[in-house]
Amino acid sequence: MDRITDPIVTSGGMSMPKLGLGTWRMKGAECTEAVQRALGLGYRHIDTAEMYGNEEAVGEALVNGGVPRDQVHVTSKVWHENLSADAMQRSIDASLAKLRTDYVDLYLIHWPSVDMDLPDAVHNLMRVKEQGKARAIGVSNFPVALLRRAVEEVQAPIACNQFEYHVLLGQSSLVGYCQSHGVAASAYAPLAQGRLAEHEELQAIARKHGATPAQVALKWLLDQPGVAAIPKAMRAESQQANLDALRIELDDTDRAAISMLPKTQRFVNPGWAPVWDLAA
Ligand SMILES: NC(=O)c1ccc[n+]([C@@H]2O[C@H](COP(=O)([O-])OP(=O)(O)OC[C@H]3O[C@@H](n4cnc5c(N)ncnc54)[C@H](OP(=O)(O)O)[C@@H]3O)[C@@H](O)[C@H]2O)c1
Repeated sequence: MDRITDPIVTSGGMSMPKLGLGTWRMKGAECTEAVQRALGLGYRHIDTAEMYGNEEAVGEALVNGGVPRDQVHVTSKVWHENLSADAMQRSIDASLAKLRTDYVDLYLIHWPSVDMDLPDAVHNLMRVKEQGKARAIGVSNFPVALLRRAVEEVQAPIACNQFEYHVLLGQSSLVGYCQSHGVAASAYAPLAQGRLAEHEELQAIARKHGATPAQVALKWLLDQPGVAAIPKAMRAESQQANLDALRIELDDTDRAAISMLPKTQRFVNPGWAPVWDLAA
């Protein structure tokens, strides 16, 4: 895999570039500028959410970024308090208006909620797809037990589960479930929120490849079948460095060293998070 537009194709036919641009915590003109710059560099996958408060800024970049809308994969997400039929309709309509588009490529339930009616929430998501407002639908932060219910019990066309995944957090059961069910696994916080930029063990591997620890961490994810990664990068040099990560060729020795790193460090764990899989 060496081209940034190389996609993951899911069992339902969704095609999503493996490397995307995360936008959490980017706001306003700074966000518009960063997304436009990324589009100029060749990014074709942008991740946003109604909760990020930046869909207008992303929409501005989509309209003025010089790339036809149908060549950019746009993911947005509905907040967990808006999973009822009416609320979800209001959410998707507001997201589309802010993003200045008729559809998103992927619409995700951002977090499961403890008191949600899962089949009902997933049916509401399916309605958004039927209406053509989302080309594909999926979930985020769903552990295997919840993902299995959406896929096998509700039989929803879940194209993606987006969850925290990086060299310091093992997710083998979730990734395995996604791979065996044609669901794209989208790794968020793939750089452990910037912490991996200075990581000592990764530095040793990086030196060997004339690369940086962040690039090694990213390539380790992107080498895995069915796994996408959406690093947030505001700075031009980070955006370019993450594209250049695709050129690194990790070997078995590198992968063995990475597999020895502790795999229990979760950095995104808000009060409303579900019970995570123990056998991750
Ligand atoms: N579904 C969910 O619940 C959920 C939760 C968290 C995140 N997400 C999504 O995932 C995206 C990524 O996660 P994240 O933003 O939490 O963390 P992240 O992507 O792991 O880390 C972002 C940090 O790493 C820095 N960085 C990026 N590329 C770098 C490079 N090549 N070298 C050195 N530093 C680099 C960035 O700096 P600069 O920006 O200064 O360049 C930023 O400070 C989010 O933006 C969001 O779209 C989703």
